[in-house]
Amino acid sequence: MKVEICNTYEEISKKAAAFIIEQVNQVPNSVIGFATGSSPIGLYKELVRDYRENATSYKDVISFNLDEYFGINKDNDQSYYYFMKTHLFKHIDIKKEHIHIPSGDSEDVLEECEFYNKKLAEHIVDIQILGIGSNGHIGFNEPGTPFDQKTHVIELDEKTRQDNARFFNSYDEVPQYAVTMGIKNILQARKILLIATGEKKADAVKRMIEGPETIDLPASALQSHPDVTVLVDYEAASML
Ligand code: GLP
Repeated sequence: MKVEICNTYEEISKKAAAFIIEQVNQVPNSVIGFATGSSPIGLYKELVRDYRENATSYKDVISFNLDEYFGINKDNDQSYYYFMKTHLFKHIDIKKEHIHIPSGDSEDVLEECEFYNKKLAEHIVDIQILGIGSNGHIGFNEPGTPFDQKTHVIELDEKTRQDNARFFNSYDEVPQYAVTMGIKNILQARKILLIATGEKKADAVKRMIEGPETIDLPASALQSHPDVTVLVDYEAASML
């Protein structure tokens, strides 16, 4: 894993954006794996700024998002669909039919997982963006998730629900389940770019990089991937 310690969140966001912009300029029909959470918001701001200033086009780009809350429909402002639309997709020229986000309210969620795996199998993600949970989750692959799992439904950890409660009116409103790409899907990306900031992530970052590869810390699975770049600030890197 390549670890880059940056001075500011802005620097992290700019570096991450440069990866995506270079990829899309070189290969206009790139497949990009997007993440939600607060970590990539700065990156998306940079992509929008670059789109406006330099007209980098996303019209042939295909996107796959990592995960979605279960039991929430896409128009709900807490859905990850809504998040992606608000922070990125509505500002750039990506085509609606090129966007893939697991559905959180499909009638048959197992069928939805199968469908998502099938779609993923038809593509190779060129760059997968990741954040990391304070418990070491990637996507919504919580501790204990086998590394060979593909897209599946998962019960969220209490810790994850507490961490994400800040986006909801109360803890009780945070969904209990989610649909997430599995670690196996994530590891199939050509390149992985993980963003982590703040002291709360320091322990997970240390165990991801220095600890044993174990399902107790899902992000440690990235140790076996050949091309991972970790962009961190000094707080998130403080235990390295
Ligand atoms: C969320 C998402 C993850 C994200 C993580 C960290 O629950 N499912 O994809 O990486 O938790 O979120 P944040 O960046 O807000 O700390």
